[in-house]
Amino acid sequence: MHAEPRLERVDLPGRATDVRIGEGLYGTIWAALRARFPAAARCGLAIDERVAGLWPLPPAPADIDVLDITLPAGEAAKTREVLASVQDRWLDLRRDEPVVVVGGGAALDVGGFAAATVRRGLPWIAVATSVVAMADAAVGGKTAVNHARGKNLLGTFHPPVLVLSDVATLATLEARESVAGLAEVYKCGRLADAVLLATLREGPPADPAAWIDAVQRAVAVKARLVEADERDGGVRRLLNYGHTVGHALERVLGNERLRHGEAVAIGMDVAAAIALGRGLLTGEQRAEQRADLERLGLTCDLPAEASGEALHAALGLDKKRVAGTNHVMVLPVGAAGARVVDDVTDDELRAVL
Ligand SMILES: NC(=O)c1ccc[n+]([C@@H]2O[C@H](COP(=O)([O-])OP(=O)(O)OC[C@H]3O[C@@H](n4cnc5c(N)ncnc54)[C@H](O)[C@@H]3O)[C@@H](O)[C@H]2O)c1
Repeated sequence: MHAEPRLERVDLPGRATDVRIGEGLYGTIWAALRARFPAAARCGLAIDERVAGLWPLPPAPADIDVLDITLPAGEAAKTREVLASVQDRWLDLRRDEPVVVVGGGAALDVGGFAAATVRRGLPWIAVATSVVAMADAAVGGKTAVNHARGKNLLGTFHPPVLVLSDVATLATLEARESVAGLAEVYKCGRLADAVLLATLREGPPADPAAWIDAVQRAVAVKARLVEADERDGGVRRLLNYGHTVGHALERVLGNERLRHGEAVAIGMDVAAAIALGRGLLTGEQRAEQRADLERLGLTCDLPAEASGEALHAALGLDKKRVAGTNHVMVLPVGAAGARVVDDVTDDELRAVL
């Protein structure tokens, strides 16, 4: 018996995304495609190479011609070269013919970007196979590839019409990837879901039903913020909790040394330290967040090799700053909740790093 699936929806006018989170959904990919696109005689497919090896797709229906392409596993897929190869593969599709993208956040980012640009936008279905993809990357419509000058510098907004998140696929995800993904799930709890926060306080989800619940709650938090502010100019920026310092750490240390979620966990602790200094948080509340994150398997300590000049440079602390241009950060407030502030000073950051 499979755990009960959950449904969510990101309600953007004219571009809504239905999100299905459950166990065993991987086997329903073609039925879901058929139900959405009853007349489709062709579709595109892009799948992460590692996922394709571990989770072979069920055979496509005989009456659908599948233009498929395998993506390099993980972050290596997020290049302009891979993007071009996916666009080339799908170029014969008509504008109403759908594509399916299967994998973690990296596969969804490049596959979604290709879907956005071929024929000015093909409808796409995201099949998320990692915690980050399910709880974060599949929701909100951001797609991207990397550039030599930085991560995600090229991209667009193009939400999928449907997300299928099969928590059974998480069984083969490396433990470190699951734990890193939980940092983003925790972040959503801290921002706006006290029940999720309390559940994660017990430790990582222990069974498929618990994963379904945690992913659905994280998706709901993100969905509500995206609905209120799709283009990231207002409340959606709350999702950047932990990301100011997190991104700087990633730039200094690279993705191999520190996964995104691991960097975000450290960033959330730094933000909590600044909030503590401003009286927005008590010492107990900061300590509680640290203990919560550690229980999930994350660490909040700055890696020794990331302290000092390189991190300061990545945060812009060593540049001559124009007076009044302080740092924008998300600071936690009280036992739950957070706010975006734009007046964090160099001195405040230096003091806590
Ligand atoms: N668009 C957005 O809003 C958004 C949000 C968050 C993250 N992202 C992007 O997502 C990426 C990170 O996503 P990620 O953490 O999923 O990383 P990832 O896609 O690189 O996957 C991590 C590794 O896990 C493997 N993998 C994926 N699913 C698996 C499974 N079920 N079993 C075994 N292995 C599996 C992949 O092959 C890869 O090696 C980053 O590029 C980030 O920029 C985008």
